[in-house]
Amino acid sequence: MAGSTILGTGSCLPANRVTNFDLEKLVDTSDEWITTRTGIRCRHIAGPGEQTSKLAAEASRRAMSLAGIGAEEIGMIVVGTISSEMTMPSCACLVQKEIGAVNAFAFDLSAACSGFVYGLELADKQILANPDMKVLVIGAENLSARVNWRDRNTCVLFGDGAGAAVVGTAKKGRGILACKLFSDGRLWELLSMDAAQSQNPYLDPTADDAGQFDASALGHTLPHQGSYIKMVGREVFKNAVRAMEDSISQALAAAGLNGSDIDLVIPHQANIRILQCLGERIGVPQEKIYINIHKYGNTSAATVPIALDEANREGRLREGDLVLMCAFGGGFTWGSVILRW
Ligand code: ACO
Repeated sequence: MAGSTILGTGSCLPANRVTNFDLEKLVDTSDEWITTRTGIRCRHIAGPGEQTSKLAAEASRRAMSLAGIGAEEIGMIVVGTISSEMTMPSCACLVQKEIGAVNAFAFDLSAACSGFVYGLELADKQILANPDMKVLVIGAENLSARVNWRDRNTCVLFGDGAGAAVVGTAKKGRGILACKLFSDGRLWELLSMDAAQSQNPYLDPTADDAGQFDASALGHTLPHQGSYIKMVGREVFKNAVRAMEDSISQALAAAGLNGSDIDLVIPHQANIRILQCLGERIGVPQEKIYINIHKYGNTSAATVPIALDEANREGRLREGDLVLMCAFGGGFTWGSVILRW
């Protein structure tokens, strides 16, 4: 049976780069605190015309160009996102329109930071059933529109951006070797974000838009009060390390591999200290763990495909290399994918 692999990658970041020093002017924080606690030095913040779907479409064009395929060849588009500019239509349908993928069916996937890894598993199974199909798997976020810019506990952590991969049939001996996905809804309150309008106005006609905040320095106003990311950071940290380690162990076992066999780990970029702990636990040296959190912060579902694209374009991925992608996010959701490049 034919397996699937990544035929091309692409990414797209908004133009506006916001440093820790910029954030010192907004909340009671410091470059020193953010850098030592998280590894983040700056992030990109979307401005007008840089909606989630626009970033996703540009990342997709770059991925298709590298794969050498046209938009009409795409059969399925899946976008991992929790911050599309619209609830309906899906971000994936907007991407379809933008790039002209007229032969695709398209939908979004809500798995927070694990969205891209979840999408790869879906693409793999779809291609198993339809070996001629090409799938666009995308992670795209505009989290700057969904954080409370008065809350230093969260606003310094997140950024905007998109990454994409074209997935298609693999040559023999190449491609995805193992996928292990998990979730645990019991812990949802540790990391959550209400829907943009979670109160039914029919039941409370007096509800208004209280909480709007002019964060014009960053080109945004806040969404409805309460509809931004809330996180119990320390608990999320502990769970992230434990869960990613477990899914990696299970994926390695399923592929008949050890940590020492892996050539490059492309992990979710939430905190550099999580990646340091993880490397020690899975027996992979730090130089084999791809890190770009200092440039982009946590872009949720977009971190893995952005890092994958950068590693690919920097020549860090050679044919035959064993690549491990892993992620952890709200839900909780987490998972790992191993592929032979
Ligand atoms: N600047 C200065 N001080 C701060 C800031 C800030 N930006 N943020 C918090 N502090 C303070 C706190 O108020 C606290 O002060 P106190 O001791 O006087 O109360 C102190 O720093 C320590 O706060 P902690 O929250 O305990 O700091 P911690 O070392 O745990 O770091 C962090 C916080 C960076 C959030 C960390 O816990 C983390 O990375 N957690 C995991 C995040 C993650 O993995 N998310 C994944 C998924 S995201 C998604 O799915 C969308």
